[in-house]
Amino acid sequence: MYDFAPDSDLSPTERYRQLADAADALTAGEADGVANMANVAALMWEFLPALNWAGFYRMVDGELVLGPFAGRPACIRIPLGRGVCGRAAQTGETQVVEDVHAFPGHIACDAASRAELVVPVVRDGAVIAVIDLDSPQRARFGAEDAAGVEQLARVLANRI
Ligand code: SME
Repeated sequence: MYDFAPDSDLSPTERYRQLADAADALTAGEADGVANMANVAALMWEFLPALNWAGFYRMVDGELVLGPFAGRPACIRIPLGRGVCGRAAQTGETQVVEDVHAFPGHIACDAASRAELVVPVVRDGAVIAVIDLDSPQRARFGAEDAAGVEQLARVLANRI
């Protein structure tokens, strides 16, 4: 049985450190990328408060395709440059969006989503996937969240 759970009353930095450690431990030695993304989606859902979606889009033949996630069913294919995920994939840069209603071209998969954080996963200089977190809480994500998920993306770069 796996029993990865965050300690209570953690600072965001410590919470992300424990999340990255749990993801490292769960994916080490497993070669199947889908299995690893599925477990990390579940970990993000478990460790991070106030989310309504947590998961992956993978780069497949030049577009983003839905990968393992926790939350409600979501859009399946996202062209590069479209929405928050497409922007992160095209630019290779983390996107922190306080209010998705104010983001031009935001793709609404769940009307409850208000804030979004998207972090590219880069291997050998190319974006191979993005990690996407949604929250119903405006301005849910900040610099600590971006840094924490970027660390997670580095852990996963050779495991998905
Ligand atoms: N809102 C995203 C699409 C993916 S869903 O949030 C799961 C976007 O604008 O790229």
